[in-house]
Amino acid sequence: MADTMKNNESADQGKFIAFEGIDGSGKSTQIRILNERMKKEGIHCYTTMEPTDSPIGSLIHQIMTGRIRTDNKVIAALFVADRLDHLLNDVDGIVSKINEGTTVLTDRYYFSSYAYHSVDMPMDWVIQANGQSSSILRPTATIFIDTDPDTAMERIAKNRDHQELFEKKSRLVKVREKYLEAFEKLKEEERILVIDGNRSVQEIADHIWEQVKVLISR
Ligand code: ADP
Ligand code: TYD
Repeated sequence: MADTMKNNESADQGKFIAFEGIDGSGKSTQIRILNERMKKEGIHCYTTMEPTDSPIGSLIHQIMTGRIRTDNKVIAALFVADRLDHLLNDVDGIVSKINEGTTVLTDRYYFSSYAYHSVDMPMDWVIQANGQSSSILRPTATIFIDTDPDTAMERIAKNRDHQELFEKKSRLVKVREKYLEAFEKLKEEERILVIDGNRSVQEIADHIWEQVKVLISR
């Protein structure tokens, strides 16, 4: 299956579009709008996200909210497992959706791992650890909503104290840099579309739609 799925460019298969960006960049807002536009165009679409709501995803959520503590390498490995389940599980796995001709929009995929985990460990380790996912299914395109960390913070920062805000912003700055580093590293094998996320919701949505129209007409 891995070889046949690698570049999902076959006419019978659905497209697979991964949205990436720092927290608060506007991914889920834009996925919602794109999903509605696709439906109006008569394109059958399925939206999903990582971490998933599977048992592995629930474990990740408990770690992210501080209820369970573990090593960074363990967290990165759990995301690897959650992603493989996201692709391959029998009930709503992405691979079977795409093979049925459904277009899949995901809020985060392996570039999230490359960016977030390489802040604490070597990026090549993270890329290798995700090698199964990238050989099973590369996105038709990865849409990176590039939002300035200050702007993203303003969008998400309500109800947090000052120190938390500062810590989070410094991390978002690093994560954004790691995304750009990963895109540069993998530019030969991945189709990356960078969209300026600092504009209005409607301007960003129109720009994304211009790009996606080209992808779905291939
Ligand atoms: P993400 O899924 O990337 O974390 P969201 O789509 O949830 O981001 O957006 C975070 C917050 O910012 C939400 O409250 C959303 O309504 C708001 N938002 C999203 N895009 C924009 C934008 N372009 N301009 C202003 N606010 C936005
Ligand atoms: P979530 O609440 O879904 O945030 P967002 O709305 O910004 O997507 O939490 C996802 C968090 O998990 C986010 O901070 C990024 C992080 N993450 C990783 O660290 N590694 C990964 O592989 C993925 C998919 C997400």
